[in-house]
Amino acid sequence: MDRQRRSQYLQAMGIVEWQRREPAAAPAVQQLPAAPATEPGLTDAPLPAGGEIAQLDWDELQARVLSCTACDLHKSRTQAVFGVGNRNADWMIVGEAPGAEEDRRGEPFVGRAGQLLDSMLHAIGLDRQQVYIANVLKCRPPNNRDPRPEEVEQCEPWLQRQVALVQPRLILAVGRVAAQNLLKTNAPLSRLRGRRHSYGEANTPLVVTYHPAYLLRSPLEKRKAWQDLKLALEVAGG
Ligand code: URA
Ligand code: SF4
Repeated sequence: MDRQRRSQYLQAMGIVEWQRREPAAAPAVQQLPAAPATEPGLTDAPLPAGGEIAQLDWDELQARVLSCTACDLHKSRTQAVFGVGNRNADWMIVGEAPGAEEDRRGEPFVGRAGQLLDSMLHAIGLDRQQVYIANVLKCRPPNNRDPRPEEVEQCEPWLQRQVALVQPRLILAVGRVAAQNLLKTNAPLSRLRGRRHSYGEANTPLVVTYHPAYLLRSPLEKRKAWQDLKLALEVAGG
C-alpha cells in the first residue's frame, strides 16, 4: 500500500499518524529550557504574526481562519471557507475565492465550477478526496468581484500555512486571479500557462491552468486545460 493510501486509512480509522514527512532533523543544539513562567517579558513576548501562524497546527489554523476578521470581507460572508481534502495530498488545488454556493456550504469548489473541477481531476485519475483544495481568499467577495490587493495580503498567511502543512508535490493554480496572486505577477494567464513555476519558501512546483468557470463559458479551451493537466502530472512526478 502506498504512503498516501496508508495515511488515508490511518486517518479514517482515527489513528494518529506517527510518520514524519520530513526527514527528522537531528537536534543540533541542545534545546533551550523553557523560560520560567514567572519571568516577565520572555513568556509573554508576542511573536511576529507570520512566525506565530507558522506554528499553528491544523485545528488551530482552521479555528483562526473561521473567526478571522482581518479584512472587510468578514462582514459580508456567511462563513469563511477554509479548505478541504487530504491533508497529506501530493496535489494542492488553489482557486480564487468562494462563490455563492461555497459561501453557503463552507466548502471550496462545490458549485458548477467545482463540478467541472471534479471532472478535470477525474480525467487525470484523481478525485477531490485525494487532493487538498483551498482558495487564495477564504471569504467571498461581494458579487464575486475580484479580490483586492489588501484582502489578498491579509489572507495570504493562512494559505501559506496550509501549503506548509500539506507539503504538496504540486500546486495547481486555477485561473488568472489565483495564478497572478500566487506568483506575484501581472502577466496574463496565457503567458503563465505551459511552464513550471515555484511557490513560496519551499519552492513548491506550481502549474497554472484555466479556471473551470472560464471553461464553462469557453468550452473550446478545455483542450488547452488538458495540456495543462498533463504538464501538472509530469511536474508532480506521476
Ligand atoms: N471559484 C473559486 O475560485 N473557488 C471556489 O471555491 C469556487 C469557485
Ligand atoms: Fe480573514 Fe481572509 Fe476572510 Fe479576509 S478573506 S476576513 S483575511 S479569512
